[in-house]
Amino acid sequence: MSSTSPRHFIDINLLTAATLRSIVDTAHAMKRAGKRVPAKMLPNSIADAILVMIFEKPSTRTRVSFDVAMRQLGGQTIMLNDTDLQIGRGESIADTARVLSRYVDAIMLRANSHETLIEFARHATVPLINGLTDVSHPCQIMADIVTFEEAKGPIAGHSIAWVGDGNNVATSWIHAAVQFDFELRFGCPDSLRPDPTIEKWVNQQKGRLLITDDAAEAVRGADCVVTDTWVSMGDKDEKRRKALLQPYAVTETLMQKAGKDAIFMHCLPAYRGNEVTDEVIEGPQSVVFDEAENRLHAQKAILAWCLGA
Ligand code: CP
Ligand code: NVA
Repeated sequence: MSSTSPRHFIDINLLTAATLRSIVDTAHAMKRAGKRVPAKMLPNSIADAILVMIFEKPSTRTRVSFDVAMRQLGGQTIMLNDTDLQIGRGESIADTARVLSRYVDAIMLRANSHETLIEFARHATVPLINGLTDVSHPCQIMADIVTFEEAKGPIAGHSIAWVGDGNNVATSWIHAAVQFDFELRFGCPDSLRPDPTIEKWVNQQKGRLLITDDAAEAVRGADCVVTDTWVSMGDKDEKRRKALLQPYAVTETLMQKAGKDAIFMHCLPAYRGNEVTDEVIEGPQSVVFDEAENRLHAQKAILAWCLGA
């Protein structure tokens, strides 16, 4: 077992701004390099490295993009659903993390509860990557920053509007606003605001976060409008959420209030007719499929960092 702590990728607020910037720069370079990443961009340890992925919730993008990323970097993957493991029969997370760390070089976990991820990280002796929890989705937002920068240049100093639920994806956007130094304008109903402890953290860090219940105010003049599903995996109050979030749907009328060349982002899966109209997601301002593709490039950079580049 190594005496140094593994490089976990748990949340955007837990790494330094310099590390995050360097991962995004590597992601841009990985994208330019294409399928065959030059050896000088990679840690030696990645050749033949094995990533195990554990999914407690469904996934299309995270599952396939991590699998392809690892293979293109020269490594291999093992994919598990939680029901495949002895955890379902009562084996502890701590023991599972310690055992898997003896076999593989990195672990990616999509967990129902963030606490599971933290417990895993405490006991894993190889890097652990957050592949989404109920609290955050940092890999997604690293890809989103790559996507924004392709369209608009360096994100620092720009203005991003989030409209909708203050959910896991929103939380990682808030972390990113501080770390990448951009303004985040947040439009959501009072009862679906992000966790107040995050607002406190942003204020301590002197970040720029505006929270309003007025979608038009959030979007006004923004360089990018972002939303996500109104009902996340695990949410039990679909009817209430849909009623509360109706005024936050991203329509063409709302997009017109954003800056002239604003882009539209959505992590997908999208529910057209709820959080976004067909016209917006299929329209000229939408970059959602670049965003989905950039999961691959961003995660190559995350894996390279975790494994020592
Ligand atoms: N955006 C995202 O994480 O998609 P999946 O749930 O399909 O992985
Ligand atoms: N907020 C969504 C994101 C899916 C990628 C969810 O947690 O279901």
